[in-house]
Amino acid sequence: MRRIIIVAGARPNFIKIAPLISEFKRYRNHFETLLVHTGQHYDFEMSQIFFQNLNIPKPDVFLNAGSGSHAIQTARIMESFEKVVLKKRPDLVMVVGDVNSTLACSIVAAKLNVKIAHVEAGLRSFDRSMPEEINRVVTDSLSDFLFVSEPSGIRNLRREGIDSKRVYFVGNIMIDTLLSNMKKIDGSNILKRLSPVPVRPGSYSVLTLHRPSNVDSKESLLEMYEILRSIAEKIRVVYPVHPRTKKMLRAHNFLYKFEELRNLIMIEPVGYIDFIKLVKESCFVLTDSGGIQEETTVLGIPCLTLRENTERPITIKKGTNYLVGRDKGRIKKYLTCILNGRAKKGQRPKFWDGKTAERIVQILYRNI
Ligand code: UD1
Ligand code: UDP
Repeated sequence: MRRIIIVAGARPNFIKIAPLISEFKRYRNHFETLLVHTGQHYDFEMSQIFFQNLNIPKPDVFLNAGSGSHAIQTARIMESFEKVVLKKRPDLVMVVGDVNSTLACSIVAAKLNVKIAHVEAGLRSFDRSMPEEINRVVTDSLSDFLFVSEPSGIRNLRREGIDSKRVYFVGNIMIDTLLSNMKKIDGSNILKRLSPVPVRPGSYSVLTLHRPSNVDSKESLLEMYEILRSIAEKIRVVYPVHPRTKKMLRAHNFLYKFEELRNLIMIEPVGYIDFIKLVKESCFVLTDSGGIQEETTVLGIPCLTLRENTERPITIKKGTNYLVGRDKGRIKKYLTCILNGRAKKGQRPKFWDGKTAERIVQILYRNI
């Protein structure tokens, strides 16, 4: 029996581990899995709702790390995760994505000579001002199994001198979750439940924002406000507000300005099923999220990415994504395209087919 610790800490992590946990169950004679929740995200809408929506079992261990500066949060996770690894003596630690929990647990495992599998390896924005880029580079350099979601990942890891024998092109784990939940998503009645008034399919856009470069300073919030004001003149915008952004809007005295914008419907973050339903029925999405660039590509919904770079270039090359930063000219140009029905249609990238967890678990079955 091989023991695997699966780590999750933040919203996008929960979405990525769900298909892995259910696939491991099919190999229960070979693998024992333990789920560790670091507690990086802890609000009901940022954590527990995903366990309910995606039938993820209750974590075996909860580290209760909570929020803090990068050093404090990472250190807290490391300190408590080290005790777990020493006690449970796993054969492998599996981490996903690029959040501080991913980095913290990889460093702990590496120092205790425990093998590491990184799901979503190789993505690079080449922008070291993003904390996630540092998390990705360090985690990949420590990993024994690097599971890659798109071809750029293979090229990036080769350029960094990582042994190609460790690199496996397996496809996109988030798309496993998306495809396997499509029936539930179609059944969501979120459009009707939106207050004060429901929205009709195709008649609105969806916004998410949480990158520090977009929301942490007064200047960037002001730019965002102006962009939203001009978009909201044309179409309603449904906006589930990330807690980081809520905090920053309050701190910089912007919350009331945003709330006053007619056509901007600000709501709490919503669960996965409702969120994907909102995206699927929207006219387009505005976001600075990583995962949402991928989901819109598969759903065929145009996506304006409010960033200057992306670590997911295939969503631009093959998918429905446009990089617009906070450039009003670029936003206007693509918005006009979309509203006139001339948005690119996009194709589904290779191995974004719902079978990524299957590939990953088979590789581990053969190799550990
Ligand atoms: C983190 C990840 C980011 C990921 C995002 C997904 C890092 C460095 N960043 O960013 O890559 O895209 O999650 O959503 O790991 N907060 C709450 N309740 C919560 C969680 C957070 O109120 O349940 C607030 C706290 O004020 C906290 C702030 O949000 O200080 C930021 O949380 P944190 O986990 O540090 O970073 P995110 O911005 O959420
Ligand atoms: N998401 C959600 N509810 C929301 C906003 C996002 O379920 O209110 C989902 C979204 O579909 C995607 C994931 O959360 O699967 C992305 O998380 P986030 O944007 O926070 O992180 P990133 O992908 O940028 O790391």
